[in-house]
Amino acid sequence: MEVTVRLQNVTKKIKNKTIIDDLSFDVFGGEIFGFLGPNGAGKTTTIRMIVGLMKLSDGDVFICGDSIKHSFEKAIGHVGAIVENPEMYKYLTGYDNLKHYARMSPGVEKSRIDEVIELVGLKARIHDKVKTYSLGMRQRLGLAQALLHKPKVLILDEPTNGLDPQGIREIRDYLKELSRNEGMTVIVSSHLLSEMEMMCDRFCIIQNGKLIDIQNTHEEEAETTAKMLQVQVDPVKKACKLIADTFPDYHPEVVDGALRLQVTYDLIPEVIKLLVMGDCAVYGVETVTISLEEKFLQITGAGGQIQ
Ligand SMILES: Nc1ncnc2c1ncn2[C@@H]1O[C@H](COP(=O)(O)OP(=O)(O)OP(=O)(O)O)[C@@H](O)[C@H]1O
Ligand SMILES: [Mg+2]
Repeated sequence: MEVTVRLQNVTKKIKNKTIIDDLSFDVFGGEIFGFLGPNGAGKTTTIRMIVGLMKLSDGDVFICGDSIKHSFEKAIGHVGAIVENPEMYKYLTGYDNLKHYARMSPGVEKSRIDEVIELVGLKARIHDKVKTYSLGMRQRLGLAQALLHKPKVLILDEPTNGLDPQGIREIRDYLKELSRNEGMTVIVSSHLLSEMEMMCDRFCIIQNGKLIDIQNTHEEEAETTAKMLQVQVDPVKKACKLIADTFPDYHPEVVDGALRLQVTYDLIPEVIKLLVMGDCAVYGVETVTISLEEKFLQITGAGGQIQ
């Protein structure tokens, strides 16, 4: 597999404080890769260094083989990015904003502008002024702008921030489309584990500027993988007792009105059957791989205190 983004001992120190501590990992062509970490973990700082908005104190970043330290122009030419709020002219239309950016990127033709508008689904409103856009529409315009020069690598810092569930889903679908159909490498950050699991092929967990772990999202489920099962069931207390009486090893408990228990994957049907046969109404079932959730909770734990 082709490595499109390589972080090599990336370090950032500001006034003797180490903000990013020796990060090294590879991201491959066509994959959606996530940075997961709590507030202040260093996601934005890492992205700012990758896209050249901030200098590295040590280490290097290679984009499609080009070093951002030694061949910045070439390296950055492979990248489209949205970091913080993309700059837009509110009194111009979406289309005029794109035209303006197209003028600044060599080789972008009018047909490409129409293509990206289509791609981000903004056609109906593209000739309206940006000041009349909703947050989601601005996000789409930002994305269109980042895609204009057909970058090989797209980098988005918290792309779903402030979007409604529909908007989040749409962003997720575009990003998947871009990686599958155009072979684009997509890097996104988030502080939500569930979002990373839904959006990414792989993601790394960052805490206090350090790489804690890299996870594969689509690994085959081992039948014996321990799962945290969360069941929306009514009546929940009766369900809890039923499980406790039948499977005392599962340690069922009621959390936020739902039944929770640890169970291995292959035994989930048994649990559901027991509930249904026991006259409990099951409204929903969710599973979370325990090791991952626990790992992330340990990181974001400590009462949610920022360190
Ligand atoms: N210019 C700066 N000067 C001093 N400290 C900074 C600077 N920029 C970032 N930091 C610190 O670096 C750490 C990482 O910040 P960063 O913005 O990268 O976190 P993040 O993971 O993006 O968090 P969030 O989820 O809140 O966006 C924080 O402790 C922050 O205070
Ligand atoms: Mg951030």
